[in-house]
Amino acid sequence: MFPLFLKKFLCNLIPVREVRKRVRKRTVYAHYIKIRSRRCIMGFDSYVGEGFEAANRKTTIGKYCSIGRFVCIGTGQHPTDFLSTHTVFYQDMAFGPNLPPECRCKYDGEHPPCHIGNDVWIGRNAVIKDGITVGDGAIIGTSAVVTKDVPPYAIVGGVPAKLIRYRFSPDIIEALLELRWWDLPLEKIQHLPFNDVPRCVEELRKIRAAEASSK
Ligand SMILES: CC(C)(COP(=O)(O)OP(=O)(O)OC[C@H]1O[C@@H](n2cnc3c(N)ncnc32)[C@H](O)[C@@H]1OP(=O)(O)O)[C@@H](O)C(=O)NCCC(=O)NCCS
Repeated sequence: MFPLFLKKFLCNLIPVREVRKRVRKRTVYAHYIKIRSRRCIMGFDSYVGEGFEAANRKTTIGKYCSIGRFVCIGTGQHPTDFLSTHTVFYQDMAFGPNLPPECRCKYDGEHPPCHIGNDVWIGRNAVIKDGITVGDGAIIGTSAVVTKDVPPYAIVGGVPAKLIRYRFSPDIIEALLELRWWDLPLEKIQHLPFNDVPRCVEELRKIRAAEASSK
């Protein structure tokens, strides 16, 4: 195992420029931002609000995501079938007493990372359990507890989160997933009529066709 100071030093070397830049730019007035995992990857122009937590260092967040205040992506887990759920019985504690290693039970507390697509809006206070994938364009309602994968362009809410509706019709969703507007440079998409999605699809088809013919 790496000593802690070495681990910290190595973490600082890992490129997280995008995350740091966004956090500084968009949440400058936040009281605290908790990106526990310094390697959590966040795509272009995505931002998080105050009190954001991402438990797993392999969490990925796509481009143009709006993540509200006190959102938690990946919760971590304690053993549910041990005599106690308390960490002291299976973990080297950073605080409180420590049991001798031979007395600690083995618990694979490794929790899988979450993957958040592009153009996802996560409402305030939402909690997303470990290992969940949220599809492109999805919306997570305020205070939702997401326990299952969320399909692209679905709006979900509640505890546990359930489908409320889809943002667009199936043919529009299919087109948007194929056209992937978020991968185009901002200059190419900034003039799109964002409030008229069928027209956006038409325009995006032209942009993609022009790209294909220029190759
Ligand atoms: C999920 C959300 C986007 C839905 O908005 P909407 O499409 O306008 O939905 P409506 O208000 O028309 O409600 C539709 C249904 O979903 C339910 N619903 C709405 N938001 C919900 C939520 N967060 N959790 C559970 N159910 C919710 C409504 O009760 C309604 O149910 P019904 O059809 O049985 O009456 C919105 O309610 C929400 O939670 N937005 C996030 C707000 C937020 O966190 N803002 C902070 C800035 S990031």
